[in-house]
Amino acid sequence: MTPQERILQLRKELHEHNHRYYVLNSPVISDYEFDVLLKELQSLEEEHPEMYDATSPTQRVGSDITKEFKQVVHKYPMLSLGNTYSKEEVREFYERVRKNLNEDFEICCELKFDGTSISLVYEDGRLVRAVTRGDGEKGDDVTANVKTIRTIPLVLAGEGWPKEFEIRGEVLMPWKVFDRLNEERAAAGEPLFANPRNAASGTLKLQDSSVVSKRSLDAYLYFMLGEQLPADGHYENLMAAAKWGFKVSELACKCSTIDEVFAFIDRMDSERKNLPYATDGIVLKVNSLRQQKNLGYTAKSPRWAIAYKFQAERAATRLNSVTYQVGRTGVVTPVANLEPVQLSGTIVKRASLHNADIIEKLGLCIGDTVFVEKGGEIIPKITGVDLDARFMVGDKVRFIDKCPECGAALVRIEGEAAHYCPNETGCPPQIKGKIEHFVSRDAMNIDTLGPETIELLFNYGLISDVADMYSIQPEDFMFLPRMGAKSADNIVAALKASLNVPFERVLFALGIRFVGATVAKRLARAFGNINALMDASMEQLVAVDEIGERIAASVISYFAKPSNRKLVERLIAAGLKFEVAQEEQGERTDLLSGMSIVISGVFAHHSRDEYKAMIEKNGGKNVGSVSKSTSFILAGENMGPSKLEKAQKLGVRLVGEEEFLAMLQQG
Ligand code: IVH
Repeated sequence: MTPQERILQLRKELHEHNHRYYVLNSPVISDYEFDVLLKELQSLEEEHPEMYDATSPTQRVGSDITKEFKQVVHKYPMLSLGNTYSKEEVREFYERVRKNLNEDFEICCELKFDGTSISLVYEDGRLVRAVTRGDGEKGDDVTANVKTIRTIPLVLAGEGWPKEFEIRGEVLMPWKVFDRLNEERAAAGEPLFANPRNAASGTLKLQDSSVVSKRSLDAYLYFMLGEQLPADGHYENLMAAAKWGFKVSELACKCSTIDEVFAFIDRMDSERKNLPYATDGIVLKVNSLRQQKNLGYTAKSPRWAIAYKFQAERAATRLNSVTYQVGRTGVVTPVANLEPVQLSGTIVKRASLHNADIIEKLGLCIGDTVFVEKGGEIIPKITGVDLDARFMVGDKVRFIDKCPECGAALVRIEGEAAHYCPNETGCPPQIKGKIEHFVSRDAMNIDTLGPETIELLFNYGLISDVADMYSIQPEDFMFLPRMGAKSADNIVAALKASLNVPFERVLFALGIRFVGATVAKRLARAFGNINALMDASMEQLVAVDEIGERIAASVISYFAKPSNRKLVERLIAAGLKFEVAQEEQGERTDLLSGMSIVISGVFAHHSRDEYKAMIEKNGGKNVGSVSKSTSFILAGENMGPSKLEKAQKLGVRLVGEEEFLAMLQQG
């Protein structure tokens, strides 16, 4: 078999395994075996750049080239659905359809997935474009990101698909992924996503598809459009789509009476609570495409479909008090303490009030009867006040102006909704929170130091910041209650072991706002050591991939504080790692200093990532798009036509990979 044939064979096999694993949930090979095949394909493709294929399974890992999204006009506008919360209106919809059609009809009932809609275009069985809804007329081309969603086929299986067609569906973030993502964001001091819908649409709009790839998005398809669809029935088309490799809901069903429709609604209202992703209602569609056409559209939505939305569960209860929590970054969160009330299976005692603006908008008074809802969100929220029930209530709730923990005057950063306690080094929950973050698993991983021990050490005055931990002596522990010699030894050993934690994790452990584990890694790689990072300018910081002004400003303001610099000095003295390990760093040079270099095309000797690292190591900057300030383009095979055209127009030089490697070699 020639390498070319092997490449084609591997692609076919890997597409099948992907589909079995992600869509059918029944893999026939182990993850390891899958990786071995994928690696083989990757290296064959690197050796044979002429075999490049945008729909190869290797394209799913994403790439870190920055791209502004191109706007694409939808061939068929993406309309929305009329919706209702009332079963009576569902009945009216059904009757209207019956009257207008004046013949028998079926209704396809489906779940309404609570994610973000996507339009996929296939030509000759290959995914060519994925576009967001946008304003319904035109949306963003997010093809590179969508390719990382393993449940979306890049190449169709089976047969009978039209030469050209569009299929629409919903991109979802499963609850599990959503919870994990928010935990990570909390650890980085970043704002949390309110619900999986926002998280899914936020993720699709990321510039770096390799980050998207790690977020494990999923997709259900529910609407096929085109000139030559396989059947007249919508349901039948979905079943055909399933055979071609698409994920379609197994819970969809056809009903021929309104009673069957209501039975479906009632069944789903309870069954949906066991699903791994969020849903917010039911969609009813007239099944026959011919009948759909007869019914037609209003200006905004089809007359052949309606969405019945589930009522978010709501309860009324008394607001007893509002307390304020101070987090490790100093953010002050108001919390409503409620008279305990039963709400969708759990007892709710507290609800987040988010910030001062929300309290103001609700016009809350202590003693008010408030409505609590649990919608797509995990934390219940207060959605309103029952003004009719307001009688002899207490004071209006006013956001505090002093920190409830340390008394410092709170500040509010312009443009942000949150209030902060600025007393970073003297406010107990901030100190303890910072230490807890510092020792956490993804940071210094000093797992023998739990929150209770930290509390003890802090209360006994043994530690007041993270550097203090490194000067604790084993005998210091003897004064602490409930602390055995063995536990003390374990802590001392874990502290010692933490001296080997690499720079990127030490940087994450410092707990700089917006610097999560991934950002810390990028900063560590880009600057190599703490001194370079501490002295970095705004310009240098934003030149690093995926570092925007918000993160850059946070880094600058962190190191502008003498107390933080002092802390770093003490940690250096304690022996922590504050530079990237030699073997990782290699030799850094200034060969490409001041140059902006675009990478484009497919390469034979190294991967794109490797070339990017080489550029950065030699002082250059890798940028995403060609402009007149581009120094040159590192050009591989099959360079994108638009880049090529732009380069020619602006007279930007193309440098082949051999020439580039020689350039670095000769110095
Ligand atoms: S059909 C013209 N089916 O709900 C009708 N939509 O308000 C096209 N959605 O933008 C939509 N689940 O994002 C359809 N099973 C389902 C759906 C669904 C969720 C979303 C979709 C659409 C919105 C309509």
